Formats: sequence, C-alpha cells, structure tokens
Amino acid sequence: MKILVTGAAGFIGSHLSEKLLEEGHTVVGVDNFDPFYDRSLKEANLETSKKNERFSFYENDICDAAFWAGFSESGIDAVIHMAAKAGVRPSMQQPLAYNMANIIGTNHVLEFAKTRKIPKVVFASSSSVYGVNKNLPWSTDDKDLQPISVYAFSKQSGEKLCELYHNYFGVKIVALRFFTVIGPRQRPDLAINKFVKAILNGDKVTLFGTGSTFRDYTFVGDVVKGIIGALHFDNANFEIFNIGNTHTVSLLELVHIIEDLVGNKADIEFQPEQQGDVPYTWSNIEKSTRLLGYEPSTDIRDGIAQFIQWLKARA
Ligand SMILES: NC(=O)c1ccc[n+]([C@@H]2O[C@H](COP(=O)([O-])OP(=O)(O)OC[C@H]3O[C@@H](n4cnc5c(N)ncnc54)[C@H](O)[C@@H]3O)[C@@H](O)[C@H]2O)c1
Repeated sequence: MKILVTGAAGFIGSHLSEKLLEEGHTVVGVDNFDPFYDRSLKEANLETSKKNERFSFYENDICDAAFWAGFSESGIDAVIHMAAKAGVRPSMQQPLAYNMANIIGTNHVLEFAKTRKIPKVVFASSSSVYGVNKNLPWSTDDKDLQPISVYAFSKQSGEKLCELYHNYFGVKIVALRFFTVIGPRQRPDLAINKFVKAILNGDKVTLFGTGSTFRDYTFVGDVVKGIIGALHFDNANFEIFNIGNTHTVSLLELVHIIEDLVGNKADIEFQPEQQGDVPYTWSNIEKSTRLLGYEPSTDIRDGIAQFIQWLKARA
C-alpha cells in the first residue's frame, strides 16, 4: 500500500512509518516540525525512514490549503493522520493554536481524503476525550464524553468531523483513542521523559496533585500494532477504538518503577494539580481486541526500560 502519514517526524508517527516500511509499504510523510519540542529530535526520529527509498517526506503544515491543492503524489491508499499539537497543559495556554492544528488541520486532511477519494483514513484521537467520566474502565460504547482541556476538546471535535465525513461523504474512517504512550522517542513534555531525566541527574521530580492520579500507559510498539490493525479493518461504519493497555499505574508507583530501573532515589516535590489534567485514565479494549486483533504485550516496566536505553544511547 502507499500510505500518507501526517506527523511522521513525531514520537508515534516515526515508529509507525518505520514499521510500515518494514512491512513493505510505501510511506509519504508530512510534518511541519512544529516547535513544541526540539526540531533536532524530530530529525533524528526520521533518520531510519529516510534511508529507505520507499519513504518520501514533505515539510509542510497540514493547515496550508495550497499544500494540499498542489500535492502531486498519486495512488495513495490510506491516510494515517497523526499530526497534532499534543499535550493537555500547553493547550490551556495556546487554545487557538491547538484548535487550529487539531480541528482545522484535521479538516484539511479530511477534505484531501474526500476530494482524492482516498479509500481509508485512520485518525489519532486521545483518551483525554473521556475527561472526567467516572465509568471506569472507559468503553467506546459510553457516549458520555466530559473533556476538561482544550486539547481534549480539539480531539473530540476531530472525531466528530471524521464521523461527519464518513456519514455525508462516505470516507472510511477509524478513530483511535490512544492512552498515554510510552517508549523510545517519547515526547519531552511527558512525565516519564521528565522523571527519568530528573532522577538520573539527581534533580527535583515535580508531582502535580497528591501522586494518586493514575494512568493506563501503553507501549508505542503496541500502539503501532493497533494502528496497523485499524488500517486493515474494513469498516462499513465510522468506528472508534481504545488503544490502551488496561493496567493502570499511579503517579507515585510510576516514580518507584523509574527509581528502581535507574537505581537512584527521586527527590520529590509536590505541586498543586494542573488545569486540564484528568485524575485517571483506564481503557476497556475488548472491542479493539475482537475487531482489530489488538493485544498489547509490553508492560510499563519494560516500556520504560526501553525508553531509558534509548535515552542513554543518545547521550
Ligand atoms: N503520545 C501520547 O501519549 C498520545 C496520547 C493520545 C493521543 N496522541 C495523539 O497521537 C498523535 C501523535 O502524538 P505524539 O505523541 O507522537 O506527538 P508528537 O508531537 O511527537 O507528534 C506530532 C507531530 O505532528 C507534527 N505537527 C504538529 N502540527 C502540525 C501541522 N500543523 N502540520 C504538520 N505537522 C504537524 C509535529 O511536528 C509532530 O512531529 C497526536 O495526534 C496526539 O494528539 C498521543
């Protein structure tokens, strides 16, 4: 297949591109090197893919209508739309930029898919759309979404746009709600990346809240398998799936796992809860297992160990 991957230089998009190339597909990457984190990290993420002659790359903004109008690649079988401004807390500081990239950007991608009659779209959504919904573990059958951040709102809106493009224009779309993704190349704004560096360097580890919030951490290799499962899923309807791990870990437990793996004690300081942060995430993946064959196999300890190995190799 020839697959367009938006956000190909990012954490998950770069792992995905490599896996698709490994499986023999042709990958067309698009990314604007959004300055949310260092460009050099994203360039390093692309190194392996760029060595493959079945990989091509466009440095462009998905919100640029002229880019899509002039896009000359033909024969695209699927779009996997990973590009976004990610992160809950910064979305509360820059709401317009988040909504522009994540809602209007998604609209551009969907217009492209519609006008070029692309057979399949996979959309990267987020567990954050469940927000403060109390019916744990979260199931996609539960329509009671209670987002509490601009980021979560932008992803919920992206899903809604996907549903409209499916219902009214017949575009086949699958949306995937990822649950805090971990592993090599993890974004520098995410907790594990920050905690590992702080504990390695003997710096303070800042925990927001009491340390009792919990997350369903999912290994990036498992997430990529879920995305590829969605790529091959033949859907008559617009479908949404959870891509989580189903095991939850509290913030304090997370720090203890890292302490153990790094071999240093954490110097913890507690700060008040942050705007937009949800108290918990927990996935029910029964539907994803049944219909996509999705079965996560890497636990949090192993995922963090792989992250630490990657971090040390880069130093
Ligand atoms: N990492 C997680 O835990 C997680 C959880 C839930 C959902 N997601 C979603 O998965 C996707 C990938 O996340 P990630 O963690 O790899 O983030 P990332 O920031 O590493 O990757 C996103 C990529 O999109 C690019 N991008 C941003 N705006 C763009 C624009 N306007 N035009 C072109 N490219 C643009 C960025 O430069 C970046 O390389 C995102 O849609 C994110 O919202 C991630």
